[in-house]
Amino acid sequence: MVQLTLPKNSTIRTGKTWPKPEGAANLKQFDIYRWSPDDGENPRVDTYFVDLDGCGPMMLDALIKIKSEIDPTLSFRRSCREGICGSCSMNIDGVNTLACIYGIDEVGGTVKIYPLPHLPVVKDLIPDLSHFYAQHESVMPWLETSSSTPQKEWRQSIDDRRKLDGLYECIMCACCSTSCPSYWWNGDRYLGPAALLHAYRWIADSRDEATGERLDELEDPFKLYRCHTIMNCARTCPKGLNPAKAIMEIKKLMIERAV
Ligand code: SF4
Ligand code: SF4
Ligand code: FES
Repeated sequence: MVQLTLPKNSTIRTGKTWPKPEGAANLKQFDIYRWSPDDGENPRVDTYFVDLDGCGPMMLDALIKIKSEIDPTLSFRRSCREGICGSCSMNIDGVNTLACIYGIDEVGGTVKIYPLPHLPVVKDLIPDLSHFYAQHESVMPWLETSSSTPQKEWRQSIDDRRKLDGLYECIMCACCSTSCPSYWWNGDRYLGPAALLHAYRWIADSRDEATGERLDELEDPFKLYRCHTIMNCARTCPKGLNPAKAIMEIKKLMIERAV
């Protein structure tokens, strides 16, 4: 994992208030978290004003406008701008969500934008997801088989395929894991809702032949059992998925194979 140097005892200070665009009639205020590893300063919150009459409807549109027209040093991730790639996840008005599908008009008054919580920050709104991705890799998010490879394809009935609905759509945005209190406090050992949803996605796949091995790996007081069904994960998922349900299904399988 990349080691990041954050200022010790860092406190967030009030940053710069950028000038309002001249002649704008429809202004919206954005307070945005800023931190750079390069200047040795504590984090700050900068204030920007965006003319909504010249801006697209989504939070990501406002961020792109700020970066293009006001402050090119503002850093954030984005790619698809349609809720598919998971890059633009951040905390907007206290909610972990995707900036590209979150409407500016969904927040009355000043919009407050922070990076996803409880992760090291690379810069500004960019969190370090190295540990999150390593946990994802640890659940073997791929088809494991021991049978000989079929000539054409691994076949699956329509009913078995349906069992993957609500699981395969995950875009690895990390909104769920970083909203989970258990993950905040035990994220070094608890796998968190995103990785566990992916674990179940492969356990539930009728073509996979490593279910026993997958369950053995999860049979651990921390990896799985730190989920206390608090449900923040399902509430915040911008794709409408329910990682808590997937975690419960894994726990049920654990009980079934123990009796
Ligand atoms: S249900 Fe489990 S995984 Fe989801 S937020 Fe709660 S503790 Fe975390
Ligand atoms: S389950 Fe939802 S919130 Fe969690 S990583 Fe997948 S898409 Fe994002
Ligand atoms: S830019 Fe791809 S999900 Fe927002």
